[in-house]
Amino acid sequence: MTVIATRYLREPAVGGRFGEFGGRFVPEALIPACAAVEEAFRDAWADAGFRHQLDMFRTRYAGRPTALTPAWNLSAELGITLLLKREDLAHTGSHKINNVLGQALLAQRMGKTRLIAETGAGQHGVATATAAALFGLRATVYMGERDIDRQALNVARMQLLGAEVVPVTAGSRTLKDATNEAMRQWVAAVDDSHFCLGSVAGPHPYPWMIREFQSVIGDEARRQVAAELPTGVPDVVVACVGGGSNAAGTFAGFADTTARLIGVEAAGGAAMTDGTPGVVHGSRSLVLQNADGQVAEAHSIAAGLDYPGVGPEHAHLGRSGRATYVTVSDDEVLAALHRLARAEGIICALESAHAVAWVLRAAGTDELPRGSTVLLTLSGRGDKDLGQLR
Ligand SMILES: Cc1ncc(COP(=O)(O)O)c(C=O)c1O
Repeated sequence: MTVIATRYLREPAVGGRFGEFGGRFVPEALIPACAAVEEAFRDAWADAGFRHQLDMFRTRYAGRPTALTPAWNLSAELGITLLLKREDLAHTGSHKINNVLGQALLAQRMGKTRLIAETGAGQHGVATATAAALFGLRATVYMGERDIDRQALNVARMQLLGAEVVPVTAGSRTLKDATNEAMRQWVAAVDDSHFCLGSVAGPHPYPWMIREFQSVIGDEARRQVAAELPTGVPDVVVACVGGGSNAAGTFAGFADTTARLIGVEAAGGAAMTDGTPGVVHGSRSLVLQNADGQVAEAHSIAAGLDYPGVGPEHAHLGRSGRATYVTVSDDEVLAALHRLARAEGIICALESAHAVAWVLRAAGTDELPRGSTVLLTLSGRGDKDLGQLR
């Protein structure tokens, strides 16, 4: 196995820069709040006691390590070896719990009593409501009205867990608008509230901190794949990208290997493919925007990928050539979801089906020749999407 230089994946440069991306572009009132989160995270991450506590909750509460399941039937059909990292099996049904357990423990350590969060598909909102219930914190979750309609099941789950779900009626009434509102509310409530952001986006230290909390996916998968494949590492590592947290966590485990890293975006919300450099939600990254620099509206059948930006680390990984980003259409996603369900007995989230769709398209081509070995992160389960699928 050839090892390649990837230090940049482990720690962003001073100020939270990933190459030319990242940083902290927030109203002045939030600069001390971001600095306090950074200091608390640095302190906690260096503290063996914090890590031990987080590991305990990951194992005994969230059900980690999650399984690595060979997709036996699809592998045979496609002529490849396809291994699925099963974040759908984590408590609350997606990878979002990895990040939230870390941030909720951090909030407690900082003496905060409330979590403020934004959510698109609702999975991050459910994870936040869950951790708030566990740790005795209040939770307020901002959600676009359109997503409230699409993801009614998750709204009910959040409310049952005791969270307040606040509808956001501005703009496209999706994740971008919910994030704007959550950040605005944080300004007003920094004294007692922690902003529990759900992806590797936002101002420093969020993209770095959340990547670190999610790298448990890649670290586990690295060990599991090594036990499964004679080569030790797969040829290709693939994950869907909204803000990019499940992909960032997965890629982190394989950054120093020869594995090709592939991020899959929704064709209608492809900041990596169609975006240009700009600032969104406190971070410089690639953003879908018009000629005046106004953030454009994204579209995806998957509420969690319906976002006009992408985390700054992905912008850097894409520009530096370490990772490749591709898009798939809504139709391919639906077909992939159905095919995985019928072939393997796994109903995955619409978001995760983006990664599956790329594998189905690429298998047998130069992109993914026969005999290739592939690790695919299934970021979540599809129960939340059944209303949309019927
Ligand atoms: C199951 C699932 N996968 C993926 C995503 C996209 O987020 P990220 O790109 O941060 O992993 C979401 C967001 O809601 C989600 O619910």
